[in-house]
Amino acid sequence: MLTTKEAIENRRSIRKFKPDPIPEEHLRELLNAARLAPSGCNAQPWRFKIVEEENIKAGLAEAAFDQNFISRAPVVIVCCADIQGYLDGTVSGIQDLGKIGAVEDRIVTILQGKAKILETIDRNEIGPRIAANVAIAIEHIVLRALDFGLGTCWIRLMDEIKVKKLFGWDDNIHVVALLPIGYPAEFPKERKRLALHEILID
Ligand SMILES: Cc1cc2nc3c(=O)[nH]c(=O)nc-3n(C[C@H](O)[C@H](O)[C@H](O)COP(=O)(O)O)c2cc1C
Repeated sequence: MLTTKEAIENRRSIRKFKPDPIPEEHLRELLNAARLAPSGCNAQPWRFKIVEEENIKAGLAEAAFDQNFISRAPVVIVCCADIQGYLDGTVSGIQDLGKIGAVEDRIVTILQGKAKILETIDRNEIGPRIAANVAIAIEHIVLRALDFGLGTCWIRLMDEIKVKKLFGWDDNIHVVALLPIGYPAEFPKERKRLALHEILID
């Protein structure tokens, strides 16, 4: 098992995969890591579609502007935000946070006001606003995958409408990213990163 530091430092985006299948229990562990992520008001809007069927993986690769390596991963997780789930989860989450005294009453009131406003907004606009919550859950999967020797690659370059058409999803679902997963068949070097001093704002 890797330390968090080792996982963060060893992770690479993997675009070449061995065809070997991923054990069911390891996939469950990955989803469990996602489940435990933090989210605004503990709303937990993340939802995941596990794709193993060759024709659907091919459809996903095509929807991602023919990034064909996606279809060569044994599993692709389609990572989504559930808008209604978010709206409902926010209301109950705020109540829970207030009840246990994790946030002050005045913050509960502000959050409730914000939740009401969100309900009036077009669903297509809410998705991108809540995507950060899903992104955290995705990165939990990405890092936990390393414990099982698995590699992943975030995919955001995709035609969301095409992805949703593959599954018949309506405007309640916002697709945040595709995540091909498998055993790496490449071991890329560390990519260039900004230096510490470059990421600090004066
Ligand atoms: C939000 C996000 C979107 C990305 N979208 C794509 C993508 O569509 N296709 C791809 O090949 N890589 C994609 N990547 C991977 C990046 O290219 C990669 O993280 C970056 O080059 C740094 O390399 P590393 O992950 O190996 O450190 C994405 C990464 C993130 C975080």
